[in-house]
Amino acid sequence: MNKTNNELINILITGASRGFGFVFAKELAKQGFNIYAGVRDLNTAEKLIELSHEFTNIKVLKLNVLDSLDINSAFERISADNKKLDILINNVGYGLVGRFESLPLEEIHKQFETNFFSIVHLTQKMFPLLQSSTDGSLLINISSVASFVGLPSMMAYSASKAALDRFSMSIACENIENKLSVASIHPGPYKTSFRESSIKFGQIPEAKGDFFTSQNNLEEVSALIIKLINLKRQNKLKAYSEWPIGQKTGLFHLLCKYIPSSWLVDIISKNLTK
Ligand SMILES: NC(=O)c1ccc[n+]([C@@H]2O[C@H](COP(=O)([O-])OP(=O)(O)OC[C@H]3O[C@@H](n4cnc5c(N)ncnc54)[C@H](OP(=O)(O)O)[C@@H]3O)[C@@H](O)[C@H]2O)c1
Repeated sequence: MNKTNNELINILITGASRGFGFVFAKELAKQGFNIYAGVRDLNTAEKLIELSHEFTNIKVLKLNVLDSLDINSAFERISADNKKLDILINNVGYGLVGRFESLPLEEIHKQFETNFFSIVHLTQKMFPLLQSSTDGSLLINISSVASFVGLPSMMAYSASKAALDRFSMSIACENIENKLSVASIHPGPYKTSFRESSIKFGQIPEAKGDFFTSQNNLEEVSALIIKLINLKRQNKLKAYSEWPIGQKTGLFHLLCKYIPSSWLVDIISKNLTK
């Protein structure tokens, strides 16, 4: 990864039409990076396309992460332009909500297709380009606090994000010699379209109390990404690192790591849902 010139750093972001992905594209473009912003459907990406007129360093790509042809075209485009990719931000994901017995099995498969298998597929495809980045590359996977534990009514989502975390850690171990750093970001709740886009089944228990409140400041997650890029450039980023972000998320991460799971189940079921 180039140590000084942001223009020479190529970043691919998935799910950039809205939410975190859009904000990442905007904030990273402001820093002058060369951005490939992937969207599922160009017809619903007007906001990003408009942004790419303001920031010509944003290239909008059609990239439905479930479509092999789109993945291949993204690879061809980045190879033809630059022959290397420095940073891949796997951001795409959605929630599947409902008690486990009300979730149709095919919906659970779909949840894993998007939140897990598509990421493995895209990362495999982009891997040779990541390996071509001089002085090492950076893979950022957007996980969730939901991966630390099995959250009620979010079984499939928690499981898919936990699978993503294990993927992140395994490939970091495999590539310790290849100067690849893998950063797993674990946001708490932020105000994006995530809640509205979640697919819901059955009676969903109401959230209790205010342990987690949704935050507006999506830019702080972009600021974390910029910090990670700078750490990588200074050779200060470990091969694998986890980054909880958001109100009380660090505390929740610590509790989940150090409290026995038998206690966690009591605490979560009594305090997070009515
Ligand atoms: N917001 C939170 O509270 C929160 C907390 C923890 C983790 N996260 C994680 O953050 C990531 C981004 O979520 P968000 O909060 O920004 O949600 P969001 O506002 O709903 O955005 C989701 C993005 O993913 C895209 N997408 C979904 N399926 C796709 C596919 N097959 N191919 C390409 N793009 C696809 C959507 O594109 P379309 O516009 O085409 O639908 C949209 O751009 C997710 O991985 C989520 O799990 C979010």
